[in-house]
Amino acid sequence: MSKKFYITTPLYYPSGNLHVGHTYTTVAADALARYKRSRGYDVQFLTGTDEHGQKIEQVAIEKELSPKQYVDEMIEKIKELWNTLEISYDIFIRTTDKEHEEVVQKIFTKLFEKGDIYKGNYEGHYCTPCESFWTESQLVDGKCPDCGREVQLAKEEAYFFKLSKYQEPLMKLFEEGRDFLKPDNRGKEMVNNFLKPGLEDLCVSRTTFDWGVKVPFDEKHVIYVWFDAVINYISALGIYSDNDEKFNKYWPADVHFVGKEIVRFHTIIWPAILMALDIEIPKQVFGHGWIIFENDKMSKSKGNVIYSEPIIELYGIDALKYFLLREFSFGSDGNFSREGFLTRMNADLANDLGNLVSRTITMIDKYFEGIVPERALIEEIDDSLLAVVNENIFEYEENMENYNFSEALSNVWKIISRSNKYIDETKPWVLGKEPESKERLKTVLYNLGEVLFKVSILIRPFMEHTANAIFEQLGLDNPDISWDMLKDENSFESGQRVSKHSPMFPRVDVKKEIDRWNEANQKFIDERNGNKDELKIPFKDEISIDDFDKLDFRVATVKEVKKHPKADRLLVFQLDVAGNNRQIVSGIAEYYKPEDLVGKQVIIIANLKPIKLRGVESCGMILSASNDDELSVLTSLKNVKSGSVVS
Ligand code: MSP
Repeated sequence: MSKKFYITTPLYYPSGNLHVGHTYTTVAADALARYKRSRGYDVQFLTGTDEHGQKIEQVAIEKELSPKQYVDEMIEKIKELWNTLEISYDIFIRTTDKEHEEVVQKIFTKLFEKGDIYKGNYEGHYCTPCESFWTESQLVDGKCPDCGREVQLAKEEAYFFKLSKYQEPLMKLFEEGRDFLKPDNRGKEMVNNFLKPGLEDLCVSRTTFDWGVKVPFDEKHVIYVWFDAVINYISALGIYSDNDEKFNKYWPADVHFVGKEIVRFHTIIWPAILMALDIEIPKQVFGHGWIIFENDKMSKSKGNVIYSEPIIELYGIDALKYFLLREFSFGSDGNFSREGFLTRMNADLANDLGNLVSRTITMIDKYFEGIVPERALIEEIDDSLLAVVNENIFEYEENMENYNFSEALSNVWKIISRSNKYIDETKPWVLGKEPESKERLKTVLYNLGEVLFKVSILIRPFMEHTANAIFEQLGLDNPDISWDMLKDENSFESGQRVSKHSPMFPRVDVKKEIDRWNEANQKFIDERNGNKDELKIPFKDEISIDDFDKLDFRVATVKEVKKHPKADRLLVFQLDVAGNNRQIVSGIAEYYKPEDLVGKQVIIIANLKPIKLRGVESCGMILSASNDDELSVLTSLKNVKSGSVVS
């Protein structure tokens, strides 16, 4: 029976477009999953989306969508990105999946019954616009660390998880030296910053917003989003359900890959929840570093966000995956620079690898009419090449087992460089001129073919297209590859016909190419934002005139506009509709100053059921035309009586 390997990425927030930094965890997990599969493991690779919480609710309100409508739209974009990157996940879990929500509720109830969750009061500093509680030490200059505004002391009824009870076993976990958290420095950080100062119980419910899993026995409370989200790693396997086969087979996780900023949730809170449930904890958590961009944090407001899609369009998936995992050491932060990317593509891919492939294939073509020769006369230099190959295969495996992706790829490139040097040393073009050197030439070209064959096996978890293209050029279509072939001196066949392809990677002029890349990145952003004359949102299904008649459009006059007390993007309108006052909340604060709208006529839908938007009642909707960048409130060309029917 094959050994199992369960690997997870964090669940992504569906709150905006994912940039190249976001793809790092998933690209790394994908390479590892592919590597383990090729070594015969029965792999489960989980990824998904973290869809509850106040922030998502807020963004949805601003877009005048229900949170569910909003996340449904965003999830499609995330899945599309993983498809573009050919991420080989086995499970895609959404925290809004019914099965997941049920498990979260079951766990909450279990822990409440056990006494590990109890009801109490949360006291802290409260930031009203952010609806967040902060402890004294979290405040920055006494103000909200998120938005910088004044905070008030506040008290809220809430449920707590007895995190403090697990202080000792957690401490042990880090002290046991069992490699629970990697790299090592992150373990020290957890011990020194969180465990040594002493753990406090964790507030695991909120009452100030709605979008989340309800506490099953006290529905005005919504379960804290992190408590909800981490449970996905076991709910996805069917724990506490009739179908828990996967849980029994794959749990505990072999490794959770997470970014460094969320290590605390995965190595303190998550294990404590599992301990409380008497469930084994994951074998390992790896906290990888951050990718910053040209020495700055990537952010929309700085306008320095780099997306994967244009990179893939210009240079292919393999170049991107190779760069991400070769350039940065997985445990440390790294600086993504376009120049660095292009330079590496030129040097490692177009030159080192590209040259080795094209020289080998060209010479087999030229000297043996395209047929791969057999190994014949052997000399010492061949052994030294094979020694480098074997040594680096051994180190590659060790590096992969320790998630040192960059080092593993560097092992492959050591093989490639040594092989290019072997060509320079053996001089096949000289051997080709003398008939008596034919036997020697056979060996040299067979060896080069074999090296390329093994290099392709090694790069396949990272660069599937490139590996397959090399197999094809070596005359092997869809070869049946096993990892053991790397250890076999004769696994590469001879006698098959090679075929020459055009270069796999372009060699580019770095300076000029940066402009082309910038343009492509900007074009991608514009298209996403709908600046192109294309229909970004498809037309809705047809309706009948009777359906249309149900909508009551009216002209209204704006009497007063105020900012919403709790949400920056919302405005609260008092309108006159044929002498009647009507209050409507609209998410357009970003586009209009309140005073600019007073006295204007607007078009409203008057018969929408009233709803509360962040606690303020809204009776109808003000119509506007919008895309992601701009918004214009609709009005009447001529002033007409307020209350006039719009049809
Ligand atoms: N929803 C939480 C995770 C819950 S897991 C139960 C979350 N989501 S996230 O969308 O903000 O981040 C997802 C992953 O992307 C994290 O591992 C995060 O570290 C990673 N990255 C986001 N930007 C990044 C970089 N610029 N560089 C490297 N990885 C970063 O956290």
